[in-house]
Amino acid sequence: MITIYRITGIERTGKGMKILVTGGAGFIGSSYIRYMLKKYPDYKIVNLDKLTYAGNLDNLSNAEGNINYRFVRGDIADTKLVDDIIKDVDVVINFAAETHVDRSISDPADFIMTDVYGTYVLLEASRRHGIGRFIQISTDEVYGDAGEEPSEEDAPLMPRSPYAASKAGADRLAFSFWATYKTPAIITRCSNNYGSNQYPEKMIPLFVTNALEDKSLPVYGDGKNTRDWIFVEDHCRAIDIILHSNGIEGEVFNIGSGIEKSILEIAEMILDILGKNNDLIEFVEDRPGHVIRHAVKTEKLRSVLGWQPSIDFQTGMERTIKWYKENEEWWRKIKSGEYLEYYKRMYGDRGRSESR
Ligand code: NAD
Ligand code: DAU
Repeated sequence: MITIYRITGIERTGKGMKILVTGGAGFIGSSYIRYMLKKYPDYKIVNLDKLTYAGNLDNLSNAEGNINYRFVRGDIADTKLVDDIIKDVDVVINFAAETHVDRSISDPADFIMTDVYGTYVLLEASRRHGIGRFIQISTDEVYGDAGEEPSEEDAPLMPRSPYAASKAGADRLAFSFWATYKTPAIITRCSNNYGSNQYPEKMIPLFVTNALEDKSLPVYGDGKNTRDWIFVEDHCRAIDIILHSNGIEGEVFNIGSGIEKSILEIAEMILDILGKNNDLIEFVEDRPGHVIRHAVKTEKLRSVLGWQPSIDFQTGMERTIKWYKENEEWWRKIKSGEYLEYYKRMYGDRGRSESR
C-alpha cells in the first residue's frame, strides 16, 4: 500500500516516512526511537549521534537488527556528512545537544559548537534539500526564571546558563529559517524529563543510583528550587503528534506536565520509595545562576493538538526507580572511569550550602 504524507502542502509518497533523528543515543532521543519503531513499523529512522559521554548505544540494543533503523556515528556540525544524510530523508528531529547545565558552566565551548552551530548546519542542509519538516527540540530553560506565572510561548527569553543561551540561539535560528526561507521548522520547549536510560549525572538518576549505593544525595542550595517534571514517554508522544499535525510551521509549543516539585521533595520521595533514610541528603553549595522556578503553560499544545500527559508523578517515579534497580549493569558501566573523575571535580571539594 502506498502511503501519502501530506505535511503542509509537501506530498511525500513511499512506504514509510524517513526520519533523521539526531542525538538518538541519548536519553530522550533513544526513548523516541524506541517509541517510533514500535508504533510505526513502516517508518525508517536514521540516528545520527556523535556518541559523546552522554551517548550510549546500550539504550538502543532492541533496535539493533531492525531493518528500519540505521545508526551513523557523526557530528551534526559536519556539513558534508549532514548533507549526505539529509538529502535522503523526509523530516529532521534535532535532539542532539550538549545538555547539562553544570557542564556548560565549567566549559561552554562544546555547547556553542553543537547546540548553536550544529543546529545551523542541520537547518542549512534542510533548506537546501527542501525538507518536509524540521522539529527543533528546545527547552523551557530558554525562558529563564518563570517567576509568579508559568511561561507562555511568547514570554521573553532570558536564559541563565551557557546551556540555556545556546539552546535559545538554536531555537530562534530554527524560527528564522522558517521566517526567512520557509524551512518548515517547529520548535518545542519541554520541561524536565525523567524516566529510564537517563545519564546518571542529571538529578533524578543521580539521586536514585546514589541512594541505591547508600551514597549521599547532593542537593544544591536549600533544595527549594522547583521544576515541572514530565515522564519521557509523554514527551515522545507530544513530538509524535507535532510531527503528524498540519499547518503549525514556525510555531512554538511548550510541553510539560503541570506537576511542579522541589528538588528536596524529590530527594525525599526517592529515599521513601527505596526505604532509605533522609540522612543521605547532603546540602551542598548552590549552582551559579541557579533558576529558582521553571514552569510552562501548555494550553496551546493541549487545545490546538489535543495532547495531554498520561503519567502521574508517583507512577512515573516508581517505574523509573524500578528500572534503575533492575538495570544496575547499565548504570554501573557508566559510573566508572571518566564519570568518577567528573564526580570528583563537581562534588569533591564542593562546600556545604550556607543557605540551610
Ligand atoms: P542527552 O545528553 O542524554 O543526549 C544528547 C545526545 O546528543 C547524546 O547521545 C550525544 O552523544 C548526542 N550529541 C551531542 N553532541 C552531538 C553532536 N555534535 N552531534 C551528534 N550528536 C551529538 O540529552 P537528553 O536529555 O536526551 O536531551 C535531548 C534533547 O532534548 C536536547 O536537545 C535537550 O536540550 C532537550 N531537552 C532535554 C530535556 C531534559 O529534561 N533532559 C528537557 C527539555 C529539552
Ligand atoms: O528544564 C529542562 C532542562 O532540564 C533540560 O533542558 C536540560 O537538558 C536538563 O538537563 C534539565 O536541566 P536541569 O538543570 O533542570 O537538570 P539537572 O538534573 O541538572 O538539575 C535538576 C535540578 O536539580 C536543578 O534545580 C539542579 C538540582 N540539582 C542537580 C544536580 C545534578 C541538585 O540539587 N543536585 C545535583 O547534584
